[in-house]
Order: sequence, then C-alpha cells, then structure tokens
Amino acid sequence: MSQQITVIVLAAGGGTRMKSKTMKVLHPIAGRSMVGHVLAAASAVEPTRVVAVVGHQREQVGPHVTDLLPDAVLAVQETQDGTGHAVRMAWEALGDDARSGTVLVVTGDTPLLQGDSLRAFLDAHTGSGRAMSILTGVVADPFGYGRIVRAADGSVEAIVEQKEASEEQAAIREINSGILAFDATFLDAALPRIGNDNAKGEYYLTDTVALARQDGLGVGAFPIDDVMQTEGANDRAQLAALAAEMNRRILDRWMRDGVTVVDPTSTWIDVDVRLEPDVTLLPGVQLLGTTVVAEDAVIGPDTTLRDVEVGAGAKVVRTHGELAVIGAGANVGPFSYLRPGTELGAGGKIGAFVETKNAQIGEGAKVPHLSYVGDATIGEGANIGAGTIFANYDGVQKHRTSIGAHAKTASNNTFVAPVNVGDGAATGAGSVIRRDVPPGALAVTSGPQRHYEEWAQNRRAGTKQAEAAARAADAERPDAGTGEPGVGSDPAGE
Ligand code: UD1
Ligand code: CA
Repeated sequence: MSQQITVIVLAAGGGTRMKSKTMKVLHPIAGRSMVGHVLAAASAVEPTRVVAVVGHQREQVGPHVTDLLPDAVLAVQETQDGTGHAVRMAWEALGDDARSGTVLVVTGDTPLLQGDSLRAFLDAHTGSGRAMSILTGVVADPFGYGRIVRAADGSVEAIVEQKEASEEQAAIREINSGILAFDATFLDAALPRIGNDNAKGEYYLTDTVALARQDGLGVGAFPIDDVMQTEGANDRAQLAALAAEMNRRILDRWMRDGVTVVDPTSTWIDVDVRLEPDVTLLPGVQLLGTTVVAEDAVIGPDTTLRDVEVGAGAKVVRTHGELAVIGAGANVGPFSYLRPGTELGAGGKIGAFVETKNAQIGEGAKVPHLSYVGDATIGEGANIGAGTIFANYDGVQKHRTSIGAHAKTASNNTFVAPVNVGDGAATGAGSVIRRDVPPGALAVTSGPQRHYEEWAQNRRAGTKQAEAAARAADAERPDAGTGEPGVGSDPAGE
C-alpha cells in the first residue's frame, strides 16, 4: 500500500465578518458550500482519512460535512485558540494508526481550490523529502497573511504573521496560503511544542516552521501560480467576488467543451450542472443544482432551471423550473412555471402563462396557454385548451386528473379531480368536468345559450350600456332613417 494521506480541514473559526446566521464555510458558491468545494478538492488526493475541525456552530457544520463525506472524522475545537490548536484537536481525534505518512492541512473557506493543485503540491512535498512544505502565493497585497521569510539560499526560515512582522517582513509579497503538508512523524512531535506567546495569544500552526529549523529539518515552499485558488471569503463582498470568479471558470470550461454562452456576464452555472456540446445559453440564464441539458437545446433568455433535465433540441424560453423533465424537442415558455414533478414528453409544449406541478404530459401533448396543470397525466398527442384549470385540491386532499391520448379539450375548462377523460375524447368550451368522460365522447356541461331581450335597457336603464343597446336596437328597426342598420341613425332623434 502506498503511503497514507491524512487531510485536516480547518473549519472551526467564527467568520464574524460575514455577519450571518449561517456559518462562513456553509455559505454557498455555485451551488455548493465553501467547505463542500474544499472537500471535493481534497478527495482528489485520495486521502486515507479526512478530519474536519469544527467549533463555531458545529451543530450545523458537523452534519453538513458528514453529509458530503460520511467517512469524515469530526474533531471538536471548543475554543478557537489558533490554527496550531485546531490541528492538535484533529490529531487527538485520530488513532495511533494516523501517525505516519503525510498530513495535508487545508482551510474550509477556499472554494476555488482545485484537486490538481493539491495533488501537485503533495507530490512536490513528498518528492522533496522535507519535514514540511508550504503552499505559498505571491500576491499584490499581502496584508493580513503570514509572510514567507526565505534565507539567501531560498530555503524557508520562518512564517511571520501580520502582527509580528517587521516593516521589512511586511513588504514580502510571498504569503502562506494556509495549505501545509507535513511528515506525520514530525507533526506529531511538533504539535505539543507550539506555544502561544505571541501578539494574538494563539497557537500558530505556522510556528512549526521554526521548530523544523531548530531540529535541522528542511522546509519547502511551493508557490501556486493561480493564487485565487487559495483565497478565502471573509465577508460578503469577497464571497461575491469569488462566486463571480468561479462562475467565470465554470463558463470557460463549458465554452471550451462546445457550449455557446451568448452573454457570460449574465449567465450563472452551478458546479454540478452538466451540458452537452451545441447547447446554446441566451442571456440571463441560471442553471442550478444538478440540471442537465442535452445537445442542441436552447435555453433562455431569462430562464432559471434548478435540478431540471432538458432533452436534446428542446427550447426553454423565459421559464422558471425546478425538479422537472423536459423531453427532446419540446417547447417551454415564454413565462412558464414548471414545479417539481413536471415531466413533459418529447415534442410536447408548455406554453405562455402555464403552471405545472406533478404532471406527466405525454409525447407531443400540448398545454399552450394560460393554464394550471396540477397532479395530472395527459396522454400523448392531447391538446389542452386555453385557460384550463386542473382543480386538484378539494381543500383537504389533492386528487389526480387523467386526460387520454389525443383528447382535445376546449378553452376555459375546469377538471375537478379525481376525474378521467378517455382517449380521443373532447370537451366543449367552458365545461366543468366532474364525471369521467368515455373515450371518444364529447362532454359539454354549459347549458344552451338563452337571451333575455332588452335586458340592458330594462335592468340597466340610464347607463351607457343601456344607451348603446337602445341605439343599436333603433338602428335595426325597419323604419329607421336610411334603412341600413347601424348607419346614419340619429341617436338623439325622436
Ligand atoms: C492563517 C495563517 C497565515 C495564513 C492565513 C491564510 C496561522 C497562524 N496563520 O492566518 O499564515 O497566511 O491563514 O489564510 O496559521 N481556524 C480554526 N480554529 C482556530 C483558528 C482558525 O479552525 O482556532 C480555522 C479558521 O476557521 C480558518 C483557518 O483556520 O478556516 C485560518 O484561520 P484564520 O483565523 O483565518 O487565520 P489567519 O489569521 O488568516
Ligand atoms: Ca484567514
């Protein structure tokens, strides 16, 4: 077996600058928590074990970590006495079998971190045979970071924290990313030797550098080119900046893989979304969660899909959808609202101002205009008239409606569930369907049309409605002026 790798994720700090009920590392970026991104990157080094150090709001953070990584060990740090103390808590949570191999320490708030970078860093560390290595970055503004102090021969002498840095040290732009690799035997011996006699009164993990030097052991430093991968979000402004950067990277990857993104600045794609080549995304599109879009589909403009599956060649315009399936070649929108459980068959249509929920709409079936379809099955090739309501709720329970294959229902129908309309059946306009309609039958529920003559003149006397009715009635009388109904009559006459 190759050498074991232990990953320690530091996630106990408060993150007070987020000013949030939600713990810092749980804030999402591109559909995944910050710590979730770090755990995903860590998994790329195929660790033997992962320990997460939790403290602040550990009742939120702990379950979240084990949700994502059931094998993770949780180490509790009751008080946040520094990064050295945090790693000691992790160490104590592990058995003796962890005290060999390599230990990789990462922080839980660097969402852009990539597995490849961690792997390259670990390889460099292992290859160097040193007691410890630091992943460093050269940044424009090093304020707040630990500075890397190198000797004339380039070897690392110390990491000096902001508060302890001399003016000369503060000018150093190579910083500690917070990602460190240790030989486990060295770390085991060094942890108890870290003190807290410093400006912050904390146990600094970075003191391990000085301890290694005291022991005559080498310390490596490997700068990462892409420093954003090691940047953390401490407040909402940094969170937004990192989210925008991550989105840019996600879009770049999809564009390189053959997806057309018309306006990258207004398009947002979560990290777990999957797209096929020749998908087109128009401006204002958000693809969230585990949304999947097949080739030649066109999404947008102005469409939000969360956990939606879109088939090849489908068109989805100005739509909000969640937990829905849109078949190949189907048309959705504009202004459609697809709620969970919507399944639109291939070539089907959900049109303007249509809301659907828990509805299976068959191949080629169409609900084109102004309708609510809840708890329904609509057979293949059926057509639902404009302004149809599937009345699924009796105030106590939800019930289902089923419409048969190739049925044609007319405008302004209400289907009072539970009710079934047979294959090939039809309905009349304005029908309220309460009883099952047999296959092939035409169901009509509105009564014959009746006229109460001169109702307006009698019941609405003195109104413009009555005046208009009287004018029209006069004009139609055979003795009226020109004889041409409605033309040349004199409303003020007589
Ligand atoms: C630390 C480093 C600094 C480095 C910087 C990179 C030390 C002493 N300093 O400084 O050299 O440039 O990170 O961002 O290590 N944490 C705990 N428990 C604690 C303290 C911290 O879990 O008691 C966690 C935090 O949640 C955070 C990480 O460790 O994820 C870093 O802690 P933070 O307080 O931000 O350290 P810095 O002062 O930024
Ligand atoms: Ca920090």
